[in-house]
Amino acid sequence: MTSKFKSKPIDRSEITPEETYLSRRDVLKAMGIVTASAALLAACAPNLPETGSAAATAVNIPPSDATDEIGDPVNTYEEIANYNNYYEFTTDKQGVARLAADFDTEPWSIQVGGLVNNPRSYTIAELQEKFPVEERIYRLRCVEAWSMVIPWQGFELGALLADVDPTEEAQYVRFEALLDPKRMPGQNNKLYPWPYQEGLRLDEAMHPLTIIATGLYGRAMPNQNGAPVRLVVPWKYGFKSIKAITKIELVAEEPATMWNTIAPNEYGFYANVNPQVDHPRWSQKTERRIGELSRRATLMFNGYEADVANLYQGMDLSVYY
Ligand code: MTE
Repeated sequence: MTSKFKSKPIDRSEITPEETYLSRRDVLKAMGIVTASAALLAACAPNLPETGSAAATAVNIPPSDATDEIGDPVNTYEEIANYNNYYEFTTDKQGVARLAADFDTEPWSIQVGGLVNNPRSYTIAELQEKFPVEERIYRLRCVEAWSMVIPWQGFELGALLADVDPTEEAQYVRFEALLDPKRMPGQNNKLYPWPYQEGLRLDEAMHPLTIIATGLYGRAMPNQNGAPVRLVVPWKYGFKSIKAITKIELVAEEPATMWNTIAPNEYGFYANVNPQVDHPRWSQKTERRIGELSRRATLMFNGYEADVANLYQGMDLSVYY
């Protein structure tokens, strides 16, 4: 099913070539300037840690004064790992951690193909070897109007896409999560069209803020947060950040996504955080930061406007919800 919102097809010439943004970043780095919103705390390259439930209990607290680039303190590990949306397990946010505790993520591989010159599959060890991870502190804003600040580890999705070399026809990237009702009991709920699927326009996928996250708080990704690897797109509502990815496909047309398929009038393909455009059931003007009592104003593009607004020039953002 296609979105009721028409997407703006992009000409490949409009996409910033990877060499251009990489060299721009290198220049900024050399000048000692860190990208305003990426908040690269430490360009650390820890080993992709052990996956699985054991890792979820190993807590490595970042400095107590760690903040994102606008000064918001990070949420605690306990908050991040115990309030989750993960419908493959349950719709109860506080029940995901328990139900996902024994989810076995080994072995795991991700197939990357479609409109690419070098289709291939990667084991987690191969990803670890090819793409050193760095820490990014990002705000995560759920469409249900709650938010957190999370210290992720991950690598830029753009680096992975460059490795498979998209063809001229590729315009979008489609992501698919694991389909295995035996291991993911929520998939026995036939109300949802499993597997969970998501998508990005190719230039959104290539944007340096878009990462494949492999962990948080310096440790392997907790099962409930999407082990072993998930997407993180910080300027979009959290449902775009698909967990437990098994397949990435470059495609020519806007791909179907799970939430857009279920309720196209509620969940657009773009889903950029926008305080001016309310969801039919939730005002998006304010949000509840987990751990805080009062509500705070929601920021356009979740506060990443300076980095990403140029991706949407010429689009009516009140229509492209
Ligand atoms: N990915 C999968 N595979 N299944 C899901 O149910 N929920 C999404 C997203 N990714 C979801 C998913 C939603 S609605 C949100 S808000 C975020 O994951 C929540 O991420 P968190 O639990 O790490 O905070």
